[in-house]
Amino acid sequence: MKILVVGGAGYIGSHMAKTLVGAGVSVVVLDDFSTGYRQAVRYGDLVEGSFADRALLDKLFTDHQFDAVMHFASFIQVGESVRDPAPYYRNNVANTQVLLDAMLAHGIKRFVFSSTAAIFGEPTRIPIDESLPSAPINPYGRSKWMVEQILADYESAYGLESVCLRYFNAAGADPEGELGERHDPETHLIPLVLQAASGRRQAISVFGTDYDTPDGTCIRDYIHVNDLSAAHLLAVKRLLAGQGSGRYNLGNGGGFSVNEVIETARQVTGRPIEVRFEPRRDGDPARLVADSRKAREELGWTPMFADLKTIIANAWAWEQNYPW
Ligand code: UFG
Repeated sequence: MKILVVGGAGYIGSHMAKTLVGAGVSVVVLDDFSTGYRQAVRYGDLVEGSFADRALLDKLFTDHQFDAVMHFASFIQVGESVRDPAPYYRNNVANTQVLLDAMLAHGIKRFVFSSTAAIFGEPTRIPIDESLPSAPINPYGRSKWMVEQILADYESAYGLESVCLRYFNAAGADPEGELGERHDPETHLIPLVLQAASGRRQAISVFGTDYDTPDGTCIRDYIHVNDLSAAHLLAVKRLLAGQGSGRYNLGNGGGFSVNEVIETARQVTGRPIEVRFEPRRDGDPARLVADSRKAREELGWTPMFADLKTIIANAWAWEQNYPW
């Protein structure tokens, strides 16, 4: 099996490349390092460039016979997408279409797409299963939902089969310590909490304490990056086995509040973590918790690192040995 991992220098893409190579898959990583890191490409062959470069894609698809393409190269900052939506629609939607069109031109008809819980916006029920209508509330979520719709149309018209995986809150790090999360700027809760624990940051800001949740802070479903990678591997196997397209919500089905994450991080690290309570951040739904039964049943997916302590412990090991 040979797979192109677009965005393989990013947080989830780099873990994916490791999982694929570990499973005996031949991997080519395509990344332009606009947000990814060269040091994160430890598995597979690297091609440096943009997935919006049609000439580069034509050469890549002529040089290699890929069985499938996995696409991790999106912009992901919700707040930024509200302030400046143009790059989100250009990169996440228009450029993805360049990639899909190039795939079709070369007869590659299997695609695994990194989608998001943000396509559900402010959910009307919890946990969120795949039957809940999509209603994104920011350009980031809309850009991902647009691609899901494009994929449905491309399947009907051109026979392109795809699996869309809606991640809830990706977290944790490679348990072997080779890879981990790095975003610049970092906006995600767990790495920021751990930076406060290690002293790289003075305190963690808690955005909003007046949500309709037991402790007033937002509840999220944190899922280990290796469990996400495992789901992608199962998804691509499903496609290659001819079992068809699918859309799956990926989470552990349990929610933790921001305060609970901070308290768990105190236990895992044994460090004090200073907290600053601040107003709500724009666009944060109170609760996002996945119902992942469909992924378990159809993909045979079972999260291996479902425990929040394990997720935080792996991220903490990475934070302490941060090699980049
Ligand atoms: N939070 C804080 N303080 C911080 C950072 C975050 O209190 O310094 C809170 C947020 O307000 C939120 C929770 O912690 O309630 C989690 O926030 P993250 O930024 O870690 O993640 P999100 O829940 O915002 O995730 C969303 C989407 C994902 C998407 C991601 C993109 O749900 O699908 O944004 O960055 F991938």
